[in-house]
Amino acid sequence: MIVLGIETSCDDTAAALVDGERRIRANLVLAQLAEHRPYGGVVPEIAARSHLDHLDTLIARALADAELDFDDIDGIAATAGPGLIGGVFVGVMTGKAIAAARRLPFLAINHLEGHALTVRLTDHVAFPYLLLLVSGGHCQLVAVEGIGRYHRLGTTIDDAVGECFDKCAKMLGLAYPGGPALERAAQGGDPRRFDLPRPMLGRDTMDFSFSGLKTAVRHRIADLSPEDLTPESRTVRDLAASFQAAVADVLADRCTRALAAFQARCGRRGPLVVAGGVAANQTLRDRLSEVATDGGTDLLAPPPALCTDNAAMIAWAGIERLRLGLRDPLDFAPRPRWPLGDLRGPAAA
Ligand code: KG4
Ligand code: ZN
Repeated sequence: MIVLGIETSCDDTAAALVDGERRIRANLVLAQLAEHRPYGGVVPEIAARSHLDHLDTLIARALADAELDFDDIDGIAATAGPGLIGGVFVGVMTGKAIAAARRLPFLAINHLEGHALTVRLTDHVAFPYLLLLVSGGHCQLVAVEGIGRYHRLGTTIDDAVGECFDKCAKMLGLAYPGGPALERAAQGGDPRRFDLPRPMLGRDTMDFSFSGLKTAVRHRIADLSPEDLTPESRTVRDLAASFQAAVADVLADRCTRALAAFQARCGRRGPLVVAGGVAANQTLRDRLSEVATDGGTDLLAPPPALCTDNAAMIAWAGIERLRLGLRDPLDFAPRPRWPLGDLRGPAAA
């Protein structure tokens, strides 16, 4: 079985081909960095127009890379939400058009389910597992119990963690996109120099809050002199490292609680899986690995290129669904908001 995956929900145009043996035959991601950089963030209409300009050729290139033809494909999977709706329309309409023209099954994939299932593509993990999903738009702890069976244990009550990385990076004058730039800046910085808050640390909840941390970073920056704020300065490195340490402490605390809650619910210890763009961060991966070990289980994390947005994860979610006999009608309406808890799996599951 071979599925074409299409991802257009944010600022990456992506097309991939994945087969039922878990082989990624092609995986292309076209980042729109230059187009959004002047604005310091993603501009939805620019993103949608750029997907429109590039998606067709990207799909053709993916097929050429894999040395495959549309005749070899068994299904078309496109991200149908949540995300910036203009871009989602582009991917969904392209996917539906190919499915209709080629009489292939169409799969409307939830972007979060794509992130959630990536580890089954890369590490062949069995259900259930505890997922920490950390991306630009989301920060959630989820018990992943089967396809379409996601039980949310905790979520952010304000900002997503990736958004917090991006905003703090911008305040520190770092390059766009902020997350990877902040991680680079933090290398060699002193994580103890700035005493930043750990919002909700130690509280009996699995929810997150990051806006207080962001405000604290803003206040620290306001206290600094402009010459302290050059991107290469020791102060910026130390502040970036201190910020990253605060985030790591908060995520570690919540994951420790969630591992216990997961065990109570599912009757087993883990494993702990981390996914989404922020999961590319090595400091966080190291810290979560310690949490998993302390909790008597393992941390599983996809390689960084499959943590950030890509279409291989969408194709894989399509394969998982198609195998269960699931497919979506061609009048499926894309959804800007689409919580994981609203998904459905096979009726018997
Ligand atoms: O999953 P993703 O590619 O897109 C969404 O679905 O949101 O996640 C993007 C987010 C951005 O906020 C980006 O800054 C963050 O992931 N990110 C990182 C790193 N790489 C990407 N954050 C921290 N460290 C990184 N190395
Ligand atoms: Zn994502």
